[in-house]
Amino acid sequence: MAVDLLLGLQWGDEGKGKIVDVLTASYDVIARFQGGPNAGHTLEFEGNKHVLHTIPSGIFHPKAVNLIGNGVVIDPVIFMKEIENLSPYQIDFKNKLLISKKAHLILPTHRLLDAASEAVKGKAKIGSTLKGIGPAYMDKTGRNGMRMGDLLADDWEEKYQRLLKKHLALLEGINAQIEYDLISMQEAFFESVKAVREFTLVDSEQYIFEAQKAGKKILAEGAQGSLLDIDFGTYPFVTSSTTTAAGACTGLGIAPNKIKEVFGIFKAYTTRVGSGPFPTELFDEDGKQMGVAGHEFGATTGRARRCGWLDLVALKYSIQINGVTQLMMMKGDVLSGFKTIKVCTAYDTPKGRIDYLPYDIASEPITPVYEEFEGWEEDLTAMTRLEEFPKSFLDYITYLEAALETPIRIVSVGPDRKQTIFR
Ligand code: IMP
Repeated sequence: MAVDLLLGLQWGDEGKGKIVDVLTASYDVIARFQGGPNAGHTLEFEGNKHVLHTIPSGIFHPKAVNLIGNGVVIDPVIFMKEIENLSPYQIDFKNKLLISKKAHLILPTHRLLDAASEAVKGKAKIGSTLKGIGPAYMDKTGRNGMRMGDLLADDWEEKYQRLLKKHLALLEGINAQIEYDLISMQEAFFESVKAVREFTLVDSEQYIFEAQKAGKKILAEGAQGSLLDIDFGTYPFVTSSTTTAAGACTGLGIAPNKIKEVFGIFKAYTTRVGSGPFPTELFDEDGKQMGVAGHEFGATTGRARRCGWLDLVALKYSIQINGVTQLMMMKGDVLSGFKTIKVCTAYDTPKGRIDYLPYDIASEPITPVYEEFEGWEEDLTAMTRLEEFPKSFLDYITYLEAALETPIRIVSVGPDRKQTIFR
């Protein structure tokens, strides 16, 4: 059985959590393949709102098994808080939530190293969520990391102490002015580790092979967005994992030829949280209006997100890198009330007009070239059928579909499960 893949095409926060939750009813397994608690996947249904960080977004459906893959990095403290927040739902975690033994751990000192590294960067800081993501992946690729499976062995504390020693030496070397209370951080860590060891730790790639053989339907869930990919994103203002389609292969053990549909999620406009280039960013009233109407505040850090018009140059790039087969457009409702809607179709650079992402969009001056469309006044949030949409919004969708050469299958007009229109 083939595997479908769902990922964000911009700088994260596209609304992946909502769509996974909506699609879960048709899948047996929801498997998260990268990132960690830097993600904040927001789900809303029946008047409740939930933010998940590490746990896959299929957790609220009774049927689906949720798997945290080897490509994910796990902070036991945050993970256990997520579990506690889910306690009203009486979820059968033993059977419905599986964790890869090969997933790496985020230690308290990874968080300190993240904070120290950002502090000394000054203006060049990445704008990290400070969850220890970068340092945890550095230990993974540096072959020093601790994995979930290590927690099952008797000597795991010795491994921890060895890594702690190395981290403390690194912290001393960085010599950043940061304040911390490592003793209480470690207390919380050890307590959570005890609890995490009781969860179902599996050889996740084996689980995935067997699920495929048994004809189960699998949806691989990405975190962050393609433009934050460690290789193809706006480096160095990126996260430390492979957020693009290839990440599902390495982060779950799925063979490339087993991937069928690639669902690409994008917002009807663009947002970015943290530092880094953003060619269509708006600093005017329009940008403010998007931020307010779209409630654009980070689900993990609460930071205000930067807002701007849709960037088709960047979106086309993401569609290509990922081999997107179906698009899902989120937050169309946020654009109601704009007289004119703009879409960036090319960049003007000192070397001329281009329609692709150049090597370094951070230091080259880029002026976006816009096409303009008539806006609409109607509130879309209560609309449940395509026929109810205003003509200008339908024209916007049709234009995007043609420009992106990929069908837009879902149009979302609000955070609730019900505000999802299939085309
Ligand atoms: P880190 O992954 O926490 O180190 O953050 C690196 C960059 O990715 C920063 O600009 C963050 O704001 C951004 N980032 C990380 N996770 C997310 C996310 O889930 N949504 C949006 N941006 C994110």
